[in-house]
Amino acid sequence: MGRVLVTGGAGFVGSHLVDALLAAGHAVRVLDNLDPQAHEGGRPRFLSPEAELVEADLRAPAAVGRALRGVEVVFHQAGMVGNGQSMYEIHRYIDVNAGGTAVLLEEALRARDTLRRVVTASSMVVYGEGAYRCAEHGVVAPGLRRRADLDARRWENRCPRCGEAVEPVPTPEDHPLHPTSPYAISKRDGEELTLTAGHAHGLETVALRYLNVYGPRQALSNPYTGVAAIFSTRLLGGRRPLVFEDGRQRRDLVHVSDVVRANLLAMDAPGVIGLPVNVGTGVSISVRELALVLAAELGVDLEPEVTQRFRAGDIRHCIADVRRARDVLGFEARAGRAEALRDLARWVSCETPVDRSAAAVAALRERGLIR
Ligand code: UD1
Repeated sequence: MGRVLVTGGAGFVGSHLVDALLAAGHAVRVLDNLDPQAHEGGRPRFLSPEAELVEADLRAPAAVGRALRGVEVVFHQAGMVGNGQSMYEIHRYIDVNAGGTAVLLEEALRARDTLRRVVTASSMVVYGEGAYRCAEHGVVAPGLRRRADLDARRWENRCPRCGEAVEPVPTPEDHPLHPTSPYAISKRDGEELTLTAGHAHGLETVALRYLNVYGPRQALSNPYTGVAAIFSTRLLGGRRPLVFEDGRQRRDLVHVSDVVRANLLAMDAPGVIGLPVNVGTGVSISVRELALVLAAELGVDLEPEVTQRFRAGDIRHCIADVRRARDVLGFEARAGRAEALRDLARWVSCETPVDRSAAAVAALRERGLIR
């Protein structure tokens, strides 16, 4: 079994991937800067001691070059996450996510003697709005919702051609990319840089577009983490989940164990080279329903507070079209949602997170990014 490198291997998805790679018999190296926003207490206790940790920044070429020595496959999971924060820390997000990926790729090209493949973590945020169907015009791609509509609390998208109501449908990989935040732009750039470099240099590259990932080890004290972790933390602290818009926006929640499996399949699958691939379930849940299910699983009698406010750059709905993942990776999500949310709730209840979501909401409101 060859040596593999997991960038961001101390993080949420990365650390689960490290465990799976170790279990499969690989020698695993981790490159991670242990960013305090995600790792308050330094090296997380869940990072396997069997993995070799190179504590360094992705933007440091010499350290990245060293981390790549003798490596056959790179799983690039490192990056900053947070649409809202990226709206005002624009340079940092582009620098870390796009710039860091650029450094990794330059160093990867110098490591070609052993390096075979780079599997990069992309995201559904690259799409912006997902695909919708108009009764008259078929599948359409609405752009960012108009500020005037949001200010008037008109949440749903309309057909960009006729203005009539549309319904969300699964989003395929060839859907146009209209990222709606600097974070989303940085993820698109990271993905495109990786696939372009792979194509030009004959390096095998794959971009996995994760839908909304959830599960144990989400950074609970990081207020820019995903909605399932934020809601669980609030519920356990005795606070009602704050639901933006009307709570009817829908997301495709994919459990981290499925994301790990997709990565393992992407390591060797021949038909996936040079492609972006959605990693989701194809099934959606509304944000309000998610708050209710988590409260029930945690045994907390708290109704969500539907705020009718919105975060700048939030999309309305996104659901994965899972056909390419099935055809080229042989991947299908397996985790049952009820069971997996219970598993998340169980894990959260054993943690002692500091709930910083109120401060994060205040920071966004102050800047007019929640209205
Ligand atoms: C998320 C991730 C993004 C990732 C993408 C695909 C975050 C911050 N964003 O985008 O990095 O690339 O999934 O996996 O993790 N919501 C509330 N109340 C809250 C928080 C959120 O109602 O306290 C709502 C939001 O308005 C949104 C939905 O929940 O409608 C999902 O939000 P979030 O978990 O932040 O994820 P996305 O923005 O979809």
